[in-house]
Parts: sequence; C-alpha cells; structure tokens
Amino acid sequence: MEAVGAEGDVAAELRQRLAAGGQDHVLRFWPELDGAARRALAAELCRMDVAEINRFFRRARGDGGGAAAAAAGLDARMEPVPRDVLGSASRDRGLVPRWESRGLAEIAASRVAVLLLAGGQGTRLGVPYPKGMCDVGLPSRKTLFHLQAQRLRRLQQMAEEQHGTPCHIPWYIMTSGRTMESTKEFFQKHRYFGLKKENVIFFQQGMLPALGFDGKILLEEKGKIAMAPDGNGGLYRALGSHGIVDDMERRGVHSVHVYCVDNILVKVADPRFIGFCLEKGADCGAKVVEKTNPTEPVGVVCRVDGVYQVVEYSEISLGTAQRRGPDGRLLFNAGNIANHYFTTAFLKDVVNTYEPQLQHHVAEKKIPHVDITTGQLVQPEKPNGIKMEKFVFDIFQFSKRFVVYEVLREDEFSPLKNADSQNGKDNPTTARHALMSLHHCWVLNAGGHFVDENGTRIPAIPRLKDANDLPIQCEISPLVSYGGEGLEQLVKDREFRTPLIIDEDGIHELVKNGL
Ligand code: UD1
Repeated sequence: MEAVGAEGDVAAELRQRLAAGGQDHVLRFWPELDGAARRALAAELCRMDVAEINRFFRRARGDGGGAAAAAAGLDARMEPVPRDVLGSASRDRGLVPRWESRGLAEIAASRVAVLLLAGGQGTRLGVPYPKGMCDVGLPSRKTLFHLQAQRLRRLQQMAEEQHGTPCHIPWYIMTSGRTMESTKEFFQKHRYFGLKKENVIFFQQGMLPALGFDGKILLEEKGKIAMAPDGNGGLYRALGSHGIVDDMERRGVHSVHVYCVDNILVKVADPRFIGFCLEKGADCGAKVVEKTNPTEPVGVVCRVDGVYQVVEYSEISLGTAQRRGPDGRLLFNAGNIANHYFTTAFLKDVVNTYEPQLQHHVAEKKIPHVDITTGQLVQPEKPNGIKMEKFVFDIFQFSKRFVVYEVLREDEFSPLKNADSQNGKDNPTTARHALMSLHHCWVLNAGGHFVDENGTRIPAIPRLKDANDLPIQCEISPLVSYGGEGLEQLVKDREFRTPLIIDEDGIHELVKNGL
C-alpha cells in the first residue's frame, strides 16, 4: 500500500509540473501501468525539464527569432570560404611535411586528444548496435572502432620514435542513452584494442523527447517517452556536465580532434591537420573535401553574414547547392567531413559561455507513437512530429581564428551511412572498397606490384572508377602504417597476389597460403 501511496504522490507532483507546461497528457495511461513501469516513467519525467523543452520548441520553431527565422533567406547571405583561411593537403604540398612534424611534436608532448561522436542511432544504416561496432567485411574483419584504435596506437608509436618520449592520446568517446552500454561492453571485450583503459574516456550526451507539430511530447509506449539523443552538438552540454574539459586541462591537452564515427578512412589525430591549425594559430578548424555533386548529403563550410558556419545538406536549397563559380566548380564546395579542430581553451569558453546560445535544428520525422485518445500504436506514413538537435559545428560562429583544411576525398572520406540494400552510396561495400583502394595505392607508391593468378602483373590502376569497379583486395593494418608511411622496406620491388594483408605479424597472401 505504501508503495502505491508513494507512487501516487510522485504522480500528483509530476502531474502538476507537467500540467503547468501543458504536457500532462504523458500520464494519460498511468492507471494502466504496473509498478515497475510507473517507476520507470516517473524517473524519466523527473529528469526532464519541461519548461526548458517548451522553450526549445518555441525557439526552434522561430518564435521571437529562432533557428527557423535565422535560416530564412540563408541562400542570399552565404559566401564561400576565402582563400586566406584555407590550407590544402594537395595544393600546399610543400608545407605538409612542416605541418606534419609540428603535429607529431604536439602528439609526442601528449598535448593532443581525440573526441569521437558516437551517440547517433544509425537509423539509416539500420543495425541494432552502435555504428562503430560495424564490420564492413574487410579481409581482417576489423570494425570501425578497431581501425580507429589501431591508428591511435600507431601514431603514438611514431611520435615516441621521433621524439624519444612516451606519450598518449586520450580518446574521449561520447555515447548516448542508446549506445553507452553496448559501446563500453565492446571496448571491454576487446581489451580497449590495446590502448590503456585510463586513456579511453566514455561520457554520455543528453536526450530530448520527440514532439508533435503542436509541441506535445510523444509517447513511444504507454509508459515510455519517445526520446532521442539531442544531436552531436549535445557535446557541449555533456562536456560541461561530465567535467570533460577539466579532465582535458588536467592532462595538459591543448588540441582536440573531434570526429564522427562512420568514416572508415578517418585520420584520427591527423598530425598534418593539427600542425596546420597550430601554425595558423587557430582556435577552431574544419577539414573538408571538395563537394562535386550538388545533392551529396554533406554540409558545406561557408560564411553567412561574415560568420563561419556549416550549412547542412538538409538546410541548403537546391538552387544554391547547384551554383558554380567561374572555374566551373561548385561555388559552395567545402564539403564538411565532420572532422573538427578545437583548442581546449575554446571548448572551455563554449561550455562556460556560449552553449546556451546554440539553437536546435528541427528535423521533421515519421515518429511511431501511442495515440493519446485511443492508446493504439501509430506507425505514421508521413512526418508527424519533430526531433530537435544541436549540431557540433554550430560553435564555429564563436571562433576568433577559424581555418579550413582541404584533403582529398579518396585519402580521407568514405562514410558509412546506409545499408548495402538501400542504395549504392555510403554503404559497407563502398566503405570497404575505399579502404582497400587506398591501401592498394599505398603499396604501389611504395614500389610494390600485384600479379594475377598466372603471375602476370596487374596494371596499376589505383583508384576505383565507380562503385561496381572492384578494387584489388589489399588491407594494411594501421599498426603497420598510419598514412602510407613505412611500407617501402616491406613491399619495394616485390610482387603480391591478392587478397593481401599486411599486419604486425608480416605479409599474408591469403590465396597462396590457402586461407
Ligand atoms: C554529418 C554532418 C554533415 C557532414 C556529414 C559527413 C553534422 C550535424 N552533420 O551528417 O555536415 O557532411 O556528417 O559524413 O555533424 N551523433 C551523436 N549524437 C547525436 C547524433 C549524431 O553523437 O545525437 C554522431 C553520430 O554518431 C555520428 C555523427 O554524429 O558519428 C554524425 O551523425 P549523422 O547523423 O550520421 O550525421 P550526418 O547527417 O551524416
């Protein structure tokens, strides 16, 4: 009886608070819930700041000049990135060694950290586990997390060898309520892929309820709110609430490379990018590839009213996306590959000062929900509500010295967004092919050759022409080479059959060995 009484009190108090915010419909099915379901719902609602959610909704919807109002007339106010903030891995090739050695020195001094955004739900990919756990079918069957961890290990080793001091690159991993437990378990099971446990730091971003177009909170089940992570820009609130910036300061971190989980080619803690940003004295930077297709789903880095920002692919008009400059290239061609540079000091300012100014972006979605009148589960066929998300790049506007670093797509960008069945782009097959095609190139550049089953040399056609053009099966462990370096002594003037794996145990020609 006591428990029921206590639950009754909780419900009464909650009901009052929810009613004040016009959201008490979420308790509509309370009488039907059992004790455990009531406790779970009450706990969820107690954590929720209803007044704040209502405020977010009004602002995101544009009342009083919010995100929607700011987005109005965007096209006319957009300007491309000027040349003076731009560095290019290909056009400025002569400067790259200097940037690289500056970055490596910084890594050797343990002043660089990486921060992985891994709180997304991977809805488009449709796997029931975090994207980083995906195995895209490489010969080694390594997952995205595994590749990233090994790249960090190799970089640490390179920095130590060049500078003679032990160093580490702390790896901060932001998860969400949807991905935290499985991500942590996966790392534990794989013993942190050989990294030190204390240098892999997990923290969790916030969640927000999905809302109907009228701003009413939607129920996923009768006793469960439809919650979703608050966008990768939820990072900044989470950095503050989990003391992550303090941890960075304690460790002496100066530069942070923030990146998204799904790019199989990601150069974590890229010393060239870090070195470039340091040389420019930047507090904030973005890595881009040239966008060549107007409808490609990448945001573009640009200026709006003189302030740097990313205009997301969901927010740019087709007409603007299709505009071309005098050279025939897309006018807005700085394609955001979600690799950002921030100084710790800048992050601290964002957390302490600017975060509350960030506005939510609104995505209209088909959100399965329980109908409040009938209690039936509805699977909508057209968008019926919104999710509100902050975006990681929305802090560019606060930067005092912003830079952009352009790299080649085939070297650094092949994201995993879709399932193989969905369409021919950005799926496990394209990701696997991009990695093997790059590694094929590395072997050729280091003086190696490939031969077919008759021992005849295969002509060197290093890059894939289209998605159906199969690459040479070649995979090099990140523990052997981070970016193509160090391969000459292994492959120069040698001939290989495929599939070829080069890893820390040596060179494996799988066919020859009957594997
Ligand atoms: C993102 C970029 C887009 C860029 C593209 C390149 C953002 C907002 N958009 O788009 O400009 O061109 O990548 O591939 O960055 N995530 C969280 N928490 C969330 C939501 C997402 O941590 O609440 C993480 C995901 O785990 C993922 C990353 O953010 O690592 C990107 O999320 P996703 O939704 O895939 O972004 P895109 O729409 O592809």
